[in-house]
This record gives sequence, C-alpha cells and structure tokens, in this order.
Amino acid sequence: MSENFLSIFDISKGDVERMMARSAEHREMSAAGGIGKSLEGKAVGIFFEKPSTRTRVSFEAAAALLGAHPVLMDSASMQTNRGETLEDTAKVLSSYLDIIVMRTHGQERLEEFAAHSAVPVINALSDLEHPTQALADMFTIASHDIDLSDFKLAYIGDGNNVANSLVGLSSVMGFDIAVASPPGREPDRAVLNRSGMSNGRAAHITITDDPAEAVRDADVVYTDVWVSMGREGGAELRKLFEPYQVNADLLSAAPADAIVMHCLPAHRGEEITDEVMRSERCVAFEQAKNKLHTAKSVLEFFLRWKEG
Ligand code: CP
Ligand code: NVA
Repeated sequence: MSENFLSIFDISKGDVERMMARSAEHREMSAAGGIGKSLEGKAVGIFFEKPSTRTRVSFEAAAALLGAHPVLMDSASMQTNRGETLEDTAKVLSSYLDIIVMRTHGQERLEEFAAHSAVPVINALSDLEHPTQALADMFTIASHDIDLSDFKLAYIGDGNNVANSLVGLSSVMGFDIAVASPPGREPDRAVLNRSGMSNGRAAHITITDDPAEAVRDADVVYTDVWVSMGREGGAELRKLFEPYQVNADLLSAAPADAIVMHCLPAHRGEEITDEVMRSERCVAFEQAKNKLHTAKSVLEFFLRWKEG
C-alpha cells in the first residue's frame, strides 16, 4: 500500500474494507462510551490552506479522542504565506509530526509537499480529489445495507473533486457510477482514464448530460456545490447548472428507496432544494457524522497498520 493517501487510487478494495470494518468498531465503541487510545504519543498535523468545518474538526477530534495531539495550522499563520517553500515546510513539519492531514489547492501542491515529507500525508481535499470524503460516503452507504461492490451511484452536478474521488472509488470497489454534468463540467479526464475508461467507454461508468437518465435505477443520488472553493461562480454558471438541481422532480425519476447524499456544505436552492435536504431520504448529516469514525480509521491505518 501507499505511504500517503493523496488519491483514492492509493488504496485497494481490501484497504477500504479494513477501514470500513474499523470505522464500524469506532462507531460501536463511541456509542458504548469507550474509546481506545490507539494513537497515544503521536502528533497529528492538520494543515489547511482552504476553509473547512467538517474535515478539519473531525480529524482534530479523531486525533484527540484516540490519544494523539492534533496540531492545527492554517495558511494565514504559516510562513508559507510569506513565501517559504513547500519543500522546506514539509521537511520541518515532518520532523515534529507523525502524520500530516493537508487541504490545499492544486494536487501538485499536495504531491510536492508529500515528496518532501518524512511522514505520511493525507489529502483532506485538493482541487482534484477528496478521498477521505469518499471513504465516509462508503461507510454511510454500507450503513444502509447496500453492498459496496454492487450498487449504482448517480452523481448530479459539477464533475469536481468529490465526483473525481467517487469515480475513482467506483473502479476500486467495482460499483456502477453515472455522472450527469453540463457539457464541459465532466469529471477529470485523467481520473476517468485511470478508472478504466477508454475511448469514452467503461462498463461501470456512464457520463451523461441527462440527470434523469443518471438517477434511473440508482441506489444513491449524490450532489455537491456547483462552485467549489477557489473556482469562479456567477449568474451564467448557475444558469448552466440549473437543470442539475436535485429536487423532487428529479427524484421522481429515481427508485423510491434511493438515498440522497451531499458532502456538505450545501447551497440550498442551487444544487439541492431545502425540501430534499430536509426529507427523510437525505443522509447528508449521517455522512457528516461518519467523517469522525472514518477519520479515526484513516489516521490509524496510515500511522500504525502500515507499521504492522
Ligand atoms: N465535506 C467537507 O469536506 O466539508 P468541509 O469543507 O466543511 O470540511
Ligand atoms: N467541491 C467542494 C467540496 C467541499 C467539501 C469544494 O471543493 O469546495
């Protein structure tokens, strides 16, 4: 397995299954009020160059609850903000810390940082991918008695970092994915190719501009914001995405028992309606909660299991 978790392609199906099983143990332990201190004596760096509510706090809480010391860093308070190179920063930080969870802009920033880090680096979101989110999503899907290697996920909206990691994970796990995006906003070409697409075709991936086609036979309907952090928005873009809103009308084309997912933060009235967000079929807050259990497993997996 990989030293780092920079991309969803860094983990195997077996790795996902181990982390899912461990996350279930964490959920049980936490419900029973008992928490193992499996990371005692470790220092966990959390270096975020973009805003975050869920990922930052769940990793901080996960580290603290497992007995490690979380060290929070945001770009405004770091010397990188005054021109210190990523290379120098990675060399220094990794001489203090045992693992570094990083949220940044380009994937190449993450890769450069990891190349100079002496400790594992975890991608907590880049412009290209959001792999730890995809793991929390798998855990949520499995909690709804859905077989992770035999279901269909329909992703509606921008082919962004979240979509890319879900596409990659579909090839790691073997589930079907249909992505409905406006032309020009499809998932990343290299990610699609790496997921088994060749000449625009892959048995388990459908790319379409028709949301109703994507949600047909879906077990899961997933969406995310139309304008990701660091990207330009505006009225024209919103117009382009309007037909891709997850609303009651679109869901009438999906099976009645399909669940609705959103990684959050949501922009109600854009990619999803308030009505759907508040409906029983929407599991977005379960996803958010599950980020704590899966963050614990990710830290353990890359810190300790790789040693064993
Ligand atoms: N889903 C997610 O990554 O949320 P945050 O941006 O709040 O971390
Ligand atoms: N695609 C969104 C995800 C936020 C968790 C973004 O990058 O802003």
